[in-house]
Amino acid sequence: MIKLAVFDTKIYDREAFERCDTKGIKFRYLETKLNEDTVELARGCDAVCVFVNDTVNAEVIDRLYEYGVRLIALRCAGYNNVDVQAAFGKIHVVHVPAYSPYAVAEHAMALLLTSVRRIHKAYNRTREFNFSLNGLTGFDFHGKTVGVIGTGKIGRIFIGICRGFGMNVLAYDPFPAADSGIEYVTTDELFTRSDIISLHCPLTEETRHLINADAIGKMKKGVVIVNTSRGALIDAEALLEGIKARKVGAACLDVYEEEGDVFFEDRSGHILNDDLLSRLISMPNVIVTSHQAFLTEEALKNIAETTLRNIRSCFEGDGACENELCYRCSHFETCKGKRKEKCF
Ligand code: NAI
Repeated sequence: MIKLAVFDTKIYDREAFERCDTKGIKFRYLETKLNEDTVELARGCDAVCVFVNDTVNAEVIDRLYEYGVRLIALRCAGYNNVDVQAAFGKIHVVHVPAYSPYAVAEHAMALLLTSVRRIHKAYNRTREFNFSLNGLTGFDFHGKTVGVIGTGKIGRIFIGICRGFGMNVLAYDPFPAADSGIEYVTTDELFTRSDIISLHCPLTEETRHLINADAIGKMKKGVVIVNTSRGALIDAEALLEGIKARKVGAACLDVYEEEGDVFFEDRSGHILNDDLLSRLISMPNVIVTSHQAFLTEEALKNIAETTLRNIRSCFEGDGACENELCYRCSHFETCKGKRKEKCF
């Protein structure tokens, strides 16, 4: 029996796992997030299952190792919250590289349409029998230029959706997709030419605060910025300044740099301690969703199934750990393609 501690469990996570074949796996569902103070709860488990806002730094990894945990199974794609280098040689790390890129790309477009066509405002108005159209003027997407940063699985689906609207697409990616027909440009050119900018790259040291005061300074007046990737891609203070200066026309944020203690929870009865987030939310041209882009039936099913398969392959198989992350592999996708056995 593989003993698995699932941190930061929400009802929909548990329901998705319970719909799968869980034979051979004993679950310990924990509502708390994993960090230095809660790692003790994993004592006696073989594996931990974590999500985007769990803290899996070197200290947590060492404690997990001491308690006999041999696998960290991320139930998400991004792994910027895990010190994969510190885990190497001690604990295998697996993730779910793709569960529904459509879910995220479609949410990015949902946010964009809502914002530009003022659907969120119209919804509130008509519920109060206010049928005025004043202040609800949007703009056509057709013929506008969208700049996409990161043309992996999600970015390319988002590009397909934008093309369906008759938009011109520019992109930046250090690893351009071959034969995609996408017009790749530098980030500077993308910033200066785009009416809409959507972020679909991972959070790395290179991409942290990619959208900062300098980048915003280069953008068109009225630019709409969409972030469904990771909060720290945007310097939120610079974004707020750009909005106050009327340079940024609108922002659609599914992620926020300091979301860890706020997102995914009902804070409606509390005073929000984050002044920057409060100020952003108070802006009429900012829409915030709470890291919701992944949340579809299809994605939850794929996450649960792939996570269980990853776990079994590590403990039961002789070959590779499915979807293992290893800091030695400079490009994980290439590494995975070649790998026939566990990384250590
Ligand atoms: P992917 O790995 O298929 O694509 C990422 C792309 O970003 C790759 O083409 C890569 O070459 C590119 N890239 C790497 N460094 C870059 C840089 N410095 N500048 C521009 N592009 C760069 O990943 P996928 O599945 O498309 O996911 C993208 C991101 O979406 C993830 O890293 C994750 O942070 C985020 N995400 C958010 C979710 C949500 O619920 N809001 C759910 C799933 C993913």
